[in-house]
Amino acid sequence: MKRKLIAANWKMNILRDEAEILVNSIVDSVNFPLECDVMIAPPYTCLDIVRKCIVNTDIELGAQDVFWEDKGAYTGEISPSMLIDAGCEWVILGHSERRAVIGESDNVIEKKLKKALRKDLKVILCIGETESQRIQNRVSEILGKQLTGVLGEIESEYSEKIAIAYEPVWAIGTGVNAKSEQILEAHSIINDNLIELFEKDAHNIRILYGGSVKENNIKEIVSIKNVDGALVGGASLESVSFKRIIENSGVC
Ligand code: PGA
Repeated sequence: MKRKLIAANWKMNILRDEAEILVNSIVDSVNFPLECDVMIAPPYTCLDIVRKCIVNTDIELGAQDVFWEDKGAYTGEISPSMLIDAGCEWVILGHSERRAVIGESDNVIEKKLKKALRKDLKVILCIGETESQRIQNRVSEILGKQLTGVLGEIESEYSEKIAIAYEPVWAIGTGVNAKSEQILEAHSIINDNLIELFEKDAHNIRILYGGSVKENNIKEIVSIKNVDGALVGGASLESVSFKRIIENSGVC
């Protein structure tokens, strides 16, 4: 049984003072050692504050994006080495908001993922179908395309550093999480694709669910086959909710 991973994606939501209060209140309320892996991905501007507050805990730090080059004339970008320098162990890539709002393609995400892995960051790769793609029965096609498009050339030795987050776009921030049978089906499709890509090393890759995860649905979600944790947006911005999500995902 894989250890569950609960990852907080704070998105572009929080200022430094608020981040300090939130992370301190999470640290004060959870029991250490944690029974699952926990990662927090604040905005870049809060990385140092969050790092300082989690330094003596087993909570890990992540960023919400990274660039595919490591140094040079790329105004506004942040490199993998800079993230490591800031204390990050993780980076989230391919979030649907970046795909939809910034226009990131699988090709761009692949370049970022390759560089991040080679620089020793762990990656949560987000994939998921839109509502219209689901209505058109294209879930399997879309998930397969996003996985092979980004992971097709990744060597198996990197499998331990990869997690996939299945995030149906229609469930993100809507308060409507995917139903258990939909999660079961999507995670099994993902698992099959990972076996095609990584063969026996596929089992190293955790598959998270994301999209309106809350304290009242996490227990059911993490009990579904092939669900190895969750990527949590809105509910990770509230310490009591996030603590309950961690507590309810631990010993599964
Ligand atoms: P949500 O966001 O939990 O607010 O739905 C999840 C995500 O975007 O990763």
